[in-house]
Amino acid sequence: MDNEFFSENEYSTLQLVSRFRYICAKLIPPFLHFHFSRHKPRSLSLQEAVKKIRIAFQELGGTFIKLGQMLSARPDIVGPELSDELRNLLDKQASMPFKIIKNIVEVELKTPLNHLFKSFDVVPLSTASIGQVHKAVLSTGEIVVVKIQRVGLFKQVEKDLQLFKKLTVILDLLVGSKGLRFEYLYKEFSEWIMSELDFRTEGRRADTFKHNMKDIHYIMVPQTYWQYTTSKVITSSFISGMTLNAIFDEMRKQKALSIDEVKLSFSIDGMIVAQHIIAGLFKQMFVDKFFHADLHPANLIVQKDNKVAFIDFGIIGILDTVEHTKMLLLLISLIENDPQSLIKVMISFSAESFTKEQKKTLYQQFARELHKIHGGVVGTVSLSHFITSLLSLSKKYSITWSSGLILVAKTISQIDSIAFQFGLKISAIELIRPQLESQITECFSKKVTKEMIFRETLELIEAGKHLPESVAELEELVGDDLKLHVDGGLMNQKSLSSLDIMLMLVVSIVGTYFLMQILPIAESQYKNIFMIGFPLLLYFVIGRIIRS
Ligand SMILES: Nc1ncnc2c1ncn2[C@@H]1O[C@H](COP(=O)(O)OP(=O)(O)O)[C@@H](O)[C@H]1O
Ligand SMILES: [Mg+2]
Repeated sequence: MDNEFFSENEYSTLQLVSRFRYICAKLIPPFLHFHFSRHKPRSLSLQEAVKKIRIAFQELGGTFIKLGQMLSARPDIVGPELSDELRNLLDKQASMPFKIIKNIVEVELKTPLNHLFKSFDVVPLSTASIGQVHKAVLSTGEIVVVKIQRVGLFKQVEKDLQLFKKLTVILDLLVGSKGLRFEYLYKEFSEWIMSELDFRTEGRRADTFKHNMKDIHYIMVPQTYWQYTTSKVITSSFISGMTLNAIFDEMRKQKALSIDEVKLSFSIDGMIVAQHIIAGLFKQMFVDKFFHADLHPANLIVQKDNKVAFIDFGIIGILDTVEHTKMLLLLISLIENDPQSLIKVMISFSAESFTKEQKKTLYQQFARELHKIHGGVVGTVSLSHFITSLLSLSKKYSITWSSGLILVAKTISQIDSIAFQFGLKISAIELIRPQLESQITECFSKKVTKEMIFRETLELIEAGKHLPESVAELEELVGDDLKLHVDGGLMNQKSLSSLDIMLMLVVSIVGTYFLMQILPIAESQYKNIFMIGFPLLLYFVIGRIIRS
């Protein structure tokens, strides 16, 4: 993957250093502010800090916008406040002028715009950090939407990747070890971000979703027009109706307290729409193990007859068999209000063994949380609050959630928030129960009892728990070559925390650069010791801060 991205632009050291300084100047102050206010949940100071980080990411461009998008799906790493704020990264941006849009489409599709399209709306449907969406009619008559990647996004990433690559060389020299090679992290990160910036990845995901949802008549997924799609332009079928965002705006305008009260050009039933969203999502999670993990209200379109379309496949979750089983067990324990089973599953996530006393405390805490969630309607007691408590209890007891399960948790809490905005008077549990039960029946034979499911699947999980050990043993035998492959995708826990380190180190090296400029030591005989020692010191200090 390395150099093929950079064939066109090689940036000079001066350009990279200046980018480096810029990144640090943007990131250090808001992250420090965040660090000092993160222990005061919901405080004004924390809100300000996360907003500043979001603005810094936005101003830093492509790499950080994608990074922010990824971190927005990881409240376990960055906390719920920052993860929520980072979602706004994708909100409205200044639109690109039509002249530029026309130029990009023509260059990418190698044909004049008026040969490709019968009509092309000058005013965009939406403008966001990654792309701008325009409605158009193909010369063959189909109504489509064309998403065009923001100018400069790719170049910015290219430059940052060159910078990171240079840094990884230094970092591997300074702190790299056989177990942690920044070169590999860099490679994984660059492959991930390049594939994310390639709209064909989104097109392929849309095709998979379309295929998986084909038998559910009330779920729509746009079709990708591959002839009109490149890495920077993606063309999909237009889905009529209204995004949930537009419906919520309308509710606010009409001061409607629930979705059933709002007057739209077509009538909808809030409860049925919510059930359709949940049914589609659960089919993706339970059957396909490949699910839409960004249920932002702008990514769901509601049509007549309460049909629902899933659009925008920027963040998706993939579950392996063990994660899938754990998810089933967690959700069964949740809807059955069964703290004992919940504890069994959670403990199976951990490599540590638990004392009787610890289990008792965990039981009390889980039972309390479960009781709350079973008590009230959406809005008064939120499923997302329950999930946040579960995650923080897990952290306290070193219970690790895999990235697939984190995405499940996050996505299910998005459903809760949608149901709340719909104004539904039902408990979150009762809302998800019917779909959950029917999917579980699909997954297991009707004759199997809950106890059998638990016993058998916990055995499966136990078997899964030994896997990392055997992989580690294998690694010992085969050496470093295997490392990259067994690490899996960047969305896994290990890589993400390594990504934190990467960011941290970017910051620490630039910090050194700054200090070299202002301190007289830069000219002294201790310069070399300082150059190595200071980044190391910062590495450990910032490392501690991020992990605390
Ligand atoms: N297939 C579609 N049909 C109708 N509207 C669409 C379609 N795709 C996108 N849009 C509109 O464009 C907006 C942004 O599209 P999306 O694919 O979510 O891009 P982004 O990656 O910028 O979030 C959506 O919220 C919706 O209003
Ligand atoms: Mg979107």
